[in-house]
Amino acid sequence: MNKQSIIGVIGAGAMGSGIAQVAAVAGHKVILFDSNAAAVEKAKTSLNTTLQKLSEKGKISSAAEVFSRFEFATDIEAFKNCALVIEAIIENLDIKKKVFAEVESIVSDSCVLATNTSSLSVTSIAAACNKADRVIGLHFFNPAPLMALVEIIPAVQTEKSLVDTCKDLMLSWAKTPVITKDTPGFIVNRVARPFYGEAIRIYEEGIADIATIDWAMTELGGFKMGPFALTDYIGHDVNYVVTETVFQSFFYDPRYKPSFSQKRLLEAGWLGRKTGRGFYNYAEGAVQPEPKKDIKQGMYIADRIVAMLINEAVEALHLNIASAKDLEIAMTKGVNYPKGLLQWCDEWTAERTLNLLDSLYEEYHEDRYRASVLLRKMVADKKKFLA
Ligand SMILES: NC(=O)c1ccc[n+]([C@@H]2O[C@H](COP(=O)([O-])OP(=O)(O)OC[C@H]3O[C@@H](n4cnc5c(N)ncnc54)[C@H](O)[C@@H]3O)[C@@H](O)[C@H]2O)c1
Repeated sequence: MNKQSIIGVIGAGAMGSGIAQVAAVAGHKVILFDSNAAAVEKAKTSLNTTLQKLSEKGKISSAAEVFSRFEFATDIEAFKNCALVIEAIIENLDIKKKVFAEVESIVSDSCVLATNTSSLSVTSIAAACNKADRVIGLHFFNPAPLMALVEIIPAVQTEKSLVDTCKDLMLSWAKTPVITKDTPGFIVNRVARPFYGEAIRIYEEGIADIATIDWAMTELGGFKMGPFALTDYIGHDVNYVVTETVFQSFFYDPRYKPSFSQKRLLEAGWLGRKTGRGFYNYAEGAVQPEPKKDIKQGMYIADRIVAMLINEAVEALHLNIASAKDLEIAMTKGVNYPKGLLQWCDEWTAERTLNLLDSLYEEYHEDRYRASVLLRKMVADKKKFLA
C-alpha cells in the first residue's frame, strides 16, 4: 500500500471521522461512509473546521487540499476501488459481521478489511468473510488524530504478511503500531483493567474515598488522572461496558470482575462528565470532596494498584499477548502511563512486586490477587524484564 491507495472508512462517528482525518492528512484519498446521512453531514462540517484550525496552527499546509481528498458517501458502493477499508461502526458483532460481508461483495479481492473494534473478536468478524485472510484489527485510540498508538490484531485467519503491510502503513501515517494477539481487550484494554477495578475495590471496602484514591494515583503514582476522575471523563457507559465485556470474554476470570458501584452509576444515568454526575458531581457550585493526604495510606493505595497493573502486564507477556517492547509502548502511548509497567517492575524489583501481590493474596485469599507465574520465575532467576 502507498499514498495512491484509496482508503475507505465505515462509520462517520467519533472514531471513523478521526481515522479518516489521519489517512487524508497522510496523503490518501479517503471515502468516509455512514448509513446515517446526518452523521456524514456532521463529520463533513467538523472535519472542515478541524482542518482549518490545523492549517492556522501550521500543522498542515493547506486545509483545502486535504479536504479535497475526502469523498463523503451514503452508498457503500463508493468503496469499490479501495485498497483498505477500516470499519468503525457500532460495537455489535452481528452488525459488524453483516457489514463486512456486504463490503466484501463490493471491493476487489486484494482489498484489506480492517476493524477498529475495542472488544470484539477479530476472528469472529473475519469469519463473516469469504476471504477471511484479508481481515485484520486496527485499533486506534480516541481521539485518533492525537493518540499515536494503533494496536494491530491479526485474526486466526489473517494472512501473515498483512501484519507487516499494516505496520508500514501505520508508520507512514505517523502512528506507533504494536502487534497483539486476538484476545479480549488486546493490550491496553486488558492490562489497564486494575487501574479502575482495584481503585473501585479500595473505595468499596472503605479504605479510602474517591478523592484520596485519585490524589494517591496522581501525586504519588504519577498518573495524569486518577481512576475516578478518568472513568467520569471516559463515561461509565463506555468504561463499565468494556470491563463487563472483558470479564465475560475471559470466561469470568475473577481478576476482571466488574463492580456494583460502577454498575449502579450506569443504572442511575450518572455517566460522568457528560451527564454532569458520575463519581464526582460536576454541577456548578458543587462542593468537591477533599483528599486526605496521608502519605502512608496514599503509598499503600498507589502500590496496590500499580502492583496489580504490573501483574497484568507480566501475565500478558507470559501468555505471548505481545512483546515486552510493545507492552511498554502500548501503556505509555495508549493510556499515557508515566512509564511502562515492566520498567516499573524492574525499578521496584520483581521481588518487591511479588511480595505486594502475595501479601494481598494472603490477606484476601481471592484469585484476583494471584501473581503471574512469570513474576515468580523472574524472582527465582533474579532477572529483569528489560535488561
Ligand atoms: N470511542 C472510543 O473511545 C473508541 C476507541 C477505540 C475504538 N472504538 C471502537 O470504534 C467503533 C466506533 O466507535 P465510535 O465511538 O466512533 O462510535 P460512534 O457512535 O461515534 O459512531 C458510530 C457510527 O457508525 C454508524 N453506523 C452504525 N451502524 C452502521 C452501519 N451498519 N453501516 C454504516 N454506519 C453505521 C453510526 O451512524 C455512527 O455514525 C466501535 O467499534 C468502538 O468500539 C471506540
